[in-house]
Amino acid sequence: MVVLGERCAAALSKALGPEWARADPLLRVAEQPRFGDYQANAAMGLGRALGRPSREVAAAVAASLELDGICAPPEVAGPGFINLRLEDGWLATQAGALLGDERLGVAPDPAPETIVVEYSAPNLAKELHVGHLRSTVIGDALARLLGFLGHHVIRRNHVGDWGTPFGMLIEHLRDLGDRDAVTAMSLGDFTVFYRQARAKFDSDPAFADRARARVVALQGGDPATLALWRLLVDQSRRYFDAAYRRLGVLLTDAEIQGESTYNPLLGEVVAELEARGLTTVSDGALCVFPPGFSGRDGQPLPVMVRKRDGGYGYDTTDLAALRHRVRDLGADRLVYVVGAPQALHFQLLFAVARQAGWLADPRPAAEHVVVGSVLGEDSRILRTRAGRSVTLASLLDEAVERASAIVAARGDLDPAARAEVAHAVGIGAVKYADLAGDRAKDYVFSFDRMLAMDGNTGPYLQYAIARIRSILHRAEVDPASLAGAAIRLGTPDERALALTLLRFDGAVRTAASLREPHRLCTYLFDLAQKFTAFYQRCPVLKAQPAGLRDSRLALCDLSARVLTQGLALLGIQALERM
Ligand code: ARG
Repeated sequence: MVVLGERCAAALSKALGPEWARADPLLRVAEQPRFGDYQANAAMGLGRALGRPSREVAAAVAASLELDGICAPPEVAGPGFINLRLEDGWLATQAGALLGDERLGVAPDPAPETIVVEYSAPNLAKELHVGHLRSTVIGDALARLLGFLGHHVIRRNHVGDWGTPFGMLIEHLRDLGDRDAVTAMSLGDFTVFYRQARAKFDSDPAFADRARARVVALQGGDPATLALWRLLVDQSRRYFDAAYRRLGVLLTDAEIQGESTYNPLLGEVVAELEARGLTTVSDGALCVFPPGFSGRDGQPLPVMVRKRDGGYGYDTTDLAALRHRVRDLGADRLVYVVGAPQALHFQLLFAVARQAGWLADPRPAAEHVVVGSVLGEDSRILRTRAGRSVTLASLLDEAVERASAIVAARGDLDPAARAEVAHAVGIGAVKYADLAGDRAKDYVFSFDRMLAMDGNTGPYLQYAIARIRSILHRAEVDPASLAGAAIRLGTPDERALALTLLRFDGAVRTAASLREPHRLCTYLFDLAQKFTAFYQRCPVLKAQPAGLRDSRLALCDLSARVLTQGLALLGIQALERM
């Protein structure tokens, strides 16, 4: 709650001196009602810093708090917690103000930045598999959240479309003798095509030599080779596009800026590093050794910017991409949503970029947003029974199929509507399960759990929205007519619901700033539960007098809107009926 933060800052400055105005008041949602609605927990740390008893500091801050009309007089508890309880009248007015607010209380960030969010980034000419799910789904939610807060978000899909595998793939394509082989290749056949090429590469030394020569031709810009490469790229793009549309992910073709994009820049990037005196020749390769990194043997760790044979690899491409995003796109911040195994790669990359002056404090800044893996029930990377990676398509197929079984019971929906609901529920369940846990941790994939109609799941939230919509429908009121309703908070459940609705702003902001969409999931689940408690105990349609009925209908309307907006920020579709 923004106003509480502001008042706390003013009180800190008044009680302790202006130098403390910017100290964090450590404002938290109170865990139990007896501690009020919020707690300011800064006094303990401040007491230590000032060498004064923390209870005394808390009392001084509490006495300086100007919260007339907003909170009851603050109470100091325990070692120095300041408990704040909002006035019902103030709460009701604030909740009422949400009714006419399209942003539902979420103010745009006062200092918007240009943020490049890179996510998904699969390798071309391969099928998407479950390993791509997390970066894609979490990255998309972060792009939506940051965009909603008013940042200028530039999405980037740094696909692997360059380098050694392409020599092998193009050579295999030539062997098939028919350019149309790729075009004819149905989308899912990438896996087969890739495996055939790989098998030949591993077993046939002559083929391997040809493949290596083909990489050189590709990187040297040989037109015939490039034409074949284009075929592979175009086919993959069509396939990715279809997969992203199905998944409801914002990424489009225009945002695919694969590794090959940076090929023309690699020479100048390396020249700039050399000119700054950052490079060393090591074993014939050109390297940068950023300070502070050493391997297990204690030797400094290199970032290889040019190989012995004069070629460039993954690291150089990433340096070029970073420099381009900062210099040409004008990014203040670079966010890379990539799996945990690449943590060291990004640490080294950012260190070199700082040395080169491409990154600086406080900006341009770069962050590796670590995502964990999707595990099977055996707690190992999810695989098919044959030990292969599970394709994303088969996973989504099964989710939608299982969702259809749930929806099949709905005789009142026509088949087309049922299919639409099953799609939204199935895909929503997979995405929500991916988002709802701590992103840096692995999670165990379970259709049963993610499709459960109770608990912190996508279907539960979608159902909550559909249920509220049906209440509003039955009430036969025009939601617009509720915009001016006066909110009444006569019962604890109404009060708790209003308070939770007003916390949407904080939940969105926390999820965005920590890059942790699960914070928003937790909030939405809490809101849905608060709504259920309210609806169980507070009659809505039969409420009397009309003013009370309008107030309760307005709380219903707000709940549905916040849940819908919240799911939209996660990239999940809400349903009118379910
Ligand atoms: N294509 C890479 C892979 O599949 C991920 C790219 C991550 N992003 C980056 N800028 N290096 O492993």
